[in-house]
Amino acid sequence: MIPGLKGRNFVSVTDFSRSEIEQVIQLAIRLKTEFKAGKTHSYLAGQTMAMIFQKPSLRTRVSFETGMTQLGGHAIYLAPTDISLGQRETTEDIAVVLGRMTNLIMARVFGHNIVQDLARYAGVPVINGLSDFEHPCQIIADLQTIQEHKGRLAGLHAIYTGDGNNVAHSLMYGAARTGMHLTVVTPPGFEPTPKVIKESQEIARDTGARINVSNDLLKSAQGADVVYTDVWASMGQESEAQSRKAKFRDYQINAKLLAVMDSHAIILHCLPAHYGEEIDYETSRTPHSVIFDQAENRLHAQKAIMVALAAPA
Ligand code: CP
Ligand code: NVA
Repeated sequence: MIPGLKGRNFVSVTDFSRSEIEQVIQLAIRLKTEFKAGKTHSYLAGQTMAMIFQKPSLRTRVSFETGMTQLGGHAIYLAPTDISLGQRETTEDIAVVLGRMTNLIMARVFGHNIVQDLARYAGVPVINGLSDFEHPCQIIADLQTIQEHKGRLAGLHAIYTGDGNNVAHSLMYGAARTGMHLTVVTPPGFEPTPKVIKESQEIARDTGARINVSNDLLKSAQGADVVYTDVWASMGQESEAQSRKAKFRDYQINAKLLAVMDSHAIILHCLPAHYGEEIDYETSRTPHSVIFDQAENRLHAQKAIMVALAAPA
């Protein structure tokens, strides 16, 4: 379907080259158009995907499960208490067993090493459905959404405001790979991991993207084409949620920010949203907001990823 992708893993955005990301986005757009026109596909007929969840989910679970059904396959939801990853048995043994029974594994985990270990031992493609370090499927859907609304990625001026977290990391890699300029704006002390800053800036040398980090939101947002945010405290950081509110207060998407962004700027949020924190409700409902197109695109983008990794040639 996409040369060279069959049988591969998608654990990090960096697992795909620029051309592979662009081809996956084009495939997602085609599958979306065809789906809306009533055309069905059975690219994954007879295939089963195991979905491991250590954390809650709405979009990731529903989009992968629905996507698998729409492609003629079947998905099994494994809740945190079903397999008690790392407690009832080792990640290695779970990977080997699932690899013997299923065609594809998707996992939402705490430690990034867990999804890396699944990929090492499973023998079937493993997809990262979010780890503490990255959220690569989200970023493919986000890049698809930006491509659809702005007609391009390379050369756009994007900012991300909030916590330098898993979503920020994957967005940095995705922007670097596709030539999109990105400034990640955080309160002091909440910057992305230095490793991701360094690696994304290295990747960006090949594509002309400028990847920067700043603590100054209003300055960074001047003329921005794309403005992105995520929750201030991620899953697993609930105990910090209260203390973070004061530190992140000046990093909200609101009317004040709208005034400095480009007049045609689009606003993205991976959801779930905490209205009144990282974005105010009113701003999330302006014509700038594409957050529900973005959520819908999880379905189309992940169908494209699954087809690329697992469909018969
Ligand atoms: N954006 C996202 O991954 O949403 P869920 O946590 O609901 O899956
Ligand atoms: N950074 C958030 C993303 C949720 C989709 C989290 O990890 O909870």
